[in-house]
Amino acid sequence: MQERLIIFDTTLRDGEQSPGAAMTKEEKIRIARQLEKLGVDVIEAGFAAASPGDFEAIRAIAKIIKDSTVCSLARANENDVRRAGEAIKPAKSGRIHTFIATSPIHMENKLRMTPDEVVERAVQAVKWAREYTDDVEFSAEDAVRSDLDFLVRIFDAVIQAGATTINVPDTVGYSIPLLWGERFKQLIERVPDSDKVVWSTHCHNDLGMAVANSLAAVMNGARQVECTINGLGERAGNAALEEIVMAIKTRRDVFSCDTRIDTTQIVPTSKLVSSITGYPVQPNKAVVGANAFAHESGIHQDGVLKHRETYEIMRAEDVGWTTNKLTLGKLSGRNAFRTRLQELGIVLESEEALNAAFARFKELADKKREIYDEDLQALVSDEALSEPHEHYKLAYLHVCSETGETPHATVAITEDGKERKAQADGSGPVDATFRAIEAMVNSGAELLLYSVNNITSGTDAQGEVTVRLTKGGRVVNGQGADTDIVIASAKAYINALNKLHSRLERAHPQV
Ligand code: KIV
Ligand code: ZN
Repeated sequence: MQERLIIFDTTLRDGEQSPGAAMTKEEKIRIARQLEKLGVDVIEAGFAAASPGDFEAIRAIAKIIKDSTVCSLARANENDVRRAGEAIKPAKSGRIHTFIATSPIHMENKLRMTPDEVVERAVQAVKWAREYTDDVEFSAEDAVRSDLDFLVRIFDAVIQAGATTINVPDTVGYSIPLLWGERFKQLIERVPDSDKVVWSTHCHNDLGMAVANSLAAVMNGARQVECTINGLGERAGNAALEEIVMAIKTRRDVFSCDTRIDTTQIVPTSKLVSSITGYPVQPNKAVVGANAFAHESGIHQDGVLKHRETYEIMRAEDVGWTTNKLTLGKLSGRNAFRTRLQELGIVLESEEALNAAFARFKELADKKREIYDEDLQALVSDEALSEPHEHYKLAYLHVCSETGETPHATVAITEDGKERKAQADGSGPVDATFRAIEAMVNSGAELLLYSVNNITSGTDAQGEVTVRLTKGGRVVNGQGADTDIVIASAKAYINALNKLHSRLERAHPQV
C-alpha cells in the first residue's frame, strides 16, 4: 500500500497573487469545482480577511465543494483567524491555515517582533483556529531563511497547541533540492511528536526549482505538497501541480507515496485556469504545454511510430490531451448543450444564464461549423465575464483594414447603459480599435501585454485575447473570445477597463 501524498492546491490564493490574476467569485467557484473534479485534497480558496469579496468567495466555495477540504489563509492575528473560521464554516471539511514569519530578516524588519513574541502569537493563532475546526495548518513564512533551532521550537509549540499540518515554505524560492530535503529530514527528526502531524512543503520558483525542491521534501518525509495549476503564483510562481503529480506517478519506482488526482483532468484544469486568469501556458511547458507531446524531428517521429515509449515517458491521453473531440454543431438542441456543459463540470447558476449561453452557442455555431469542448469553455467564460452590472459594454465595432491604407475603427460602447461612439486610426486594426475605445473612456491606463491564442485549430477557430493594463499601481487582466480576433480584442480591452473601474481593494496577506 502506497502512502497518500496530500495535494494542497493554492491557485485561488497564492496563484491569485500573480499580477492581474484576481478572480471574481463566479470565476473562483468554477475553478474550485474543477479542482474538486481533478481530485485535489485541499483547496485553499483564498484569504478571508483580504476583503468582503474574498470572504464571500470562500464561503460560497465552502458551501458547494464536498469532496475536497476547503481552506482559508489567515495571518496570525485574531481578526484574520476568526474571519477564516467564519468563511469555512459551511464546509463539509474545512481547514484554517495560519502563518507568521520566522526568519530574522522578516521578524526584525517586517513584523518588528521578538522571537518569543512570534512563538506566543503563533500558539495563540492556532488556539483561536481550533475553536472553529480540528484541521489547522501552521506555516512558518520564510522558513528557508529561518534558524533551524527556532523552527524546531516554534513547530513544537504549535503542535502542542493543536496544529495538525506543519507547512515549511520556501517563500522566496531560495533553496536547492539537496538542502531542502535535508531541512525536512532534520525537522522531522528533531521536532517532538513530528509523527502526529502532516509535514507540508510550499516552494516558490524564483530559481526555477520549486518542483525539484518539493519533490526533495517528499523524498524526506513531506506528505503534503502545496502547488498551483500551471505554476501560477507570487513572482515566479509556485510549484506546478501537474508536474508534481506526474513526477510522482511516472516515477513510482522512486517515490513511496501516491496522489488521488484524476490525471485526465489535468489539461482541462490547466486550460480553465489559463483562460480565467489570462496567463497563457508556454508551448514548451511540461505536461500542459501545447508541444509537451509533439515530436518534431524525423528520428523521434519514426521512433514513436515504431514504439511509443522510445521518446514518451507519459501518455498524452493520461493527462487529458484528448481534446478537440467534436461535441456539438449547429443543429444541437438546448438539452444536448446543457448535458455537455454538465459533463464538462460547468454549472450555470440559473435558467437565464443557460438561455444566454445557449443563444451565444447558436451564434457561434452559425460562424463555426464544429464546436469543441474548448469552445464551450470559452463561451461560458465570456458569458461570465459579461455580467449585467458591467460599467462598459461593447455595442458595435466596424474596422477597415486594406493594403496601403491606414486601418480605421469605429466603436460604440455603452457606459452605464448610455451609448457612445468614436473613431480612430491605428497602426493595425487592433490598435485602431483600442484608440477608439480610449477616445471615449480616457482611462489613462498603460497597456502591458496583448496576447492572442487560438482555442482550437483551424482558421475558423475562436481567438482568445488577453489584455493586461496598469494604472495607479494596479494591474488587471482582461479576456475576450470570438471567431473575429479584433472583436475578441475589443472585448478583452473592455473587460480589463471594467476591472480597473471596479476598484476592488484587497489586503495582501504578506504585506
Ligand atoms: O510563500 C509563503 O510563505 C506563503 C505562506 C503564506 C504559506 O504563501
Ligand atoms: Zn507562497
